[in-house]
Amino acid sequence: MRILSGIQPSGILHIGNYFGAMKQHLELQKNNECFYFIADFHALTSNPSPEQIAQHTLDVAIDYLALGLDTDKIIFWKQSDVPQVTQLTWLLSCVTPMGLLARCVSYKEKVAQGLSPNHGLFAYPVLQAADILIYKSDLVPVGADQKQHIEVTRDIALRFNNSYGEVFNIPQEKIVETSAVVPGIDGRKMSKSYNNTIQIFESEKSLKKKVMSIVTDSTPVDEPKDPDKCNVFALLKLFAQKDEIKQWEDKYRKGPLGYGEVKKRLLELIIDYFKPYREKRKQLEGNIDFVKQTLEKGAKRAEKVAVETLKQVRKAVGLDR
Ligand code: ADP
Ligand code: TRP
Repeated sequence: MRILSGIQPSGILHIGNYFGAMKQHLELQKNNECFYFIADFHALTSNPSPEQIAQHTLDVAIDYLALGLDTDKIIFWKQSDVPQVTQLTWLLSCVTPMGLLARCVSYKEKVAQGLSPNHGLFAYPVLQAADILIYKSDLVPVGADQKQHIEVTRDIALRFNNSYGEVFNIPQEKIVETSAVVPGIDGRKMSKSYNNTIQIFESEKSLKKKVMSIVTDSTPVDEPKDPDKCNVFALLKLFAQKDEIKQWEDKYRKGPLGYGEVKKRLLELIIDYFKPYREKRKQLEGNIDFVKQTLEKGAKRAEKVAVETLKQVRKAVGLDR
């Protein structure tokens, strides 16, 4: 089974990204042929500074490698290093109705938020379709917010195949099953845009400050509490073993329980969980050349597949006859 997913380099990765996307990417690499890339072309739609896009691309690469992405086995690269994907984007654009893109919720949401859209943002799903189709992917693991983009990809692939013959296989999405949206320290969805994140590789000092400042209610220590309404518990559930979760749940319901003690335990759990990867991250930070070379090697492998598909597409369309 060929699996493909793209990760936007839009900021430092946080534990919402980890439990919502990265953990599944890392698990899938064990038994599948995986293609993972850093979607820097896509990130340009929000006009980051040159320094930002360069730094964030490296940050994502280092985080993924530190967490155990096995680049001997899977293919990991930077999207823009395989520019054939932009040529396919054009060819797909020519079979993509405007209405299909105008219906895309993520586009409409950004416009509703008052963002003045550029053409790249409107065409974003066509580039995403090209990513998926150029590598002949079967399955695309994504968060629920991306489901519509995979539907658009299928629609575009079918239109192309109907017009020019069976060039593309039709991919399916695999929606990441997180038990819930990971809350940030203010209780809203953890997100870079809300400034409420706990980064995966946060320094211990800053991690402590953030965990201790997670918003809780003001129920007194001796009174029973509902664990399902507590942000600290929601985070603890992601890191603790089943037995321990059960013990805390009982303690919440029976009392006495002070939020301080749960926060202290959460802090230990987060530190322990990512400890094995911290050392690796440090090494990688000190060896940026290795990180860049790893991405370049990945791009060479990805390019072979992309070139082959593009040949078929150009021929089908009539450009190379
Ligand atoms: P952000 O909201 O910080 O900008 P992105 O939109 O770049 O994060 O998300 C990248 C991936 O991480 C997506 O697959 C998304 O579903 C997942 N993700 C982001 N935030 C969370 C969260 N709080 N809970 C679960 N998954 C999340
Ligand atoms: N749009 C995706 C996101 O924001 C990133 C992405 C780009 C992607 N190309 C892709 C995901 C291809 C899956 C397949 O999360």
